[in-house]
Amino acid sequence: MNDQITYPSYLRLDELLRLQQPQSQPEQSDELLFIVVHQASELWFKAILHDMDGLIVALEQHDAGQVLWRLQRVNSLMRIVSAQLSALDTLPPQHFAQFRTFLGTSSGSQSEQFRAIEAASGLRDEHFVRTIEEHGEVPGIVARALARPPLQDLFLAMLDAAGVKLEDLYLGPGPSVLFFLAEALLEYEQQFAQWRFKHVQLVERIIGPQTGGTGGTLGSRYLLKTIDQRFFPRLWEVRGEFFGAGAPRSV
Ligand code: HEM
Repeated sequence: MNDQITYPSYLRLDELLRLQQPQSQPEQSDELLFIVVHQASELWFKAILHDMDGLIVALEQHDAGQVLWRLQRVNSLMRIVSAQLSALDTLPPQHFAQFRTFLGTSSGSQSEQFRAIEAASGLRDEHFVRTIEEHGEVPGIVARALARPPLQDLFLAMLDAAGVKLEDLYLGPGPSVLFFLAEALLEYEQQFAQWRFKHVQLVERIIGPQTGGTGGTLGSRYLLKTIDQRFFPRLWEVRGEFFGAGAPRSV
């Protein structure tokens, strides 16, 4: 065992704990929490992207067990990212107003990892592409995620290879492994949308529904529209087939 490696050296705590640098003058005491929640979110985004790489490989290899395991991991990480937004519910508007000007034009909308997660998950619509291009050159991690097939396409290809139609998962005698994969994907989409919703509520709670964002958008009015974005439209649509939106095709 290497006794040179200790808890602080392994985790590089010296560097890590020096990275929280409030900018307000005089320092507003809530700015530290604001920085910690953002930095912690970026660390979780990093972990999510790492597991999404594994998820994509597992989908390409049609390895159902790995897909399920990776999805469960990603879903538990998304739950954590959402939960930590609650810490900022305790940031009163008058405190935020004291340090907001020190943020300059910085905004969560410039988070490259967040955009990479959206791109890896499957967003490709015009609005999304415009959003990532408006900050100049598309960042490397986002471009790489865009170059890969969306998760939904990979999942449908996996079904194809098994000779199964999406509708088949919801027909027949009992839930199959592929059914559980489809449900885990849907769970991921739900977790992501819940982050979006919690974030809009947080934004309204702190800056109100009418205040524009530091990133130049209309603030919560812009964010509310993003909740409707879908990574897996087919997985949502197929359910409607049981309720009149086209009859489910038989096995
Ligand atoms: C005081 C708390 C917060 C406020 C007032 C706030 C405000 C905003 C606003 C107004 C926007 C819209 C873009 C703009 O014009 O700036 C935005 C976008 C965003 N924020 Fe926050 N935010 C807060 C906390 C967080 C936290 C903790 C995260 C975690 C990383 C985060 C991540 C993001 C992301 C990823 C976007 C882009 C969303 C999209 O375009 O779909 N925000 N935020």
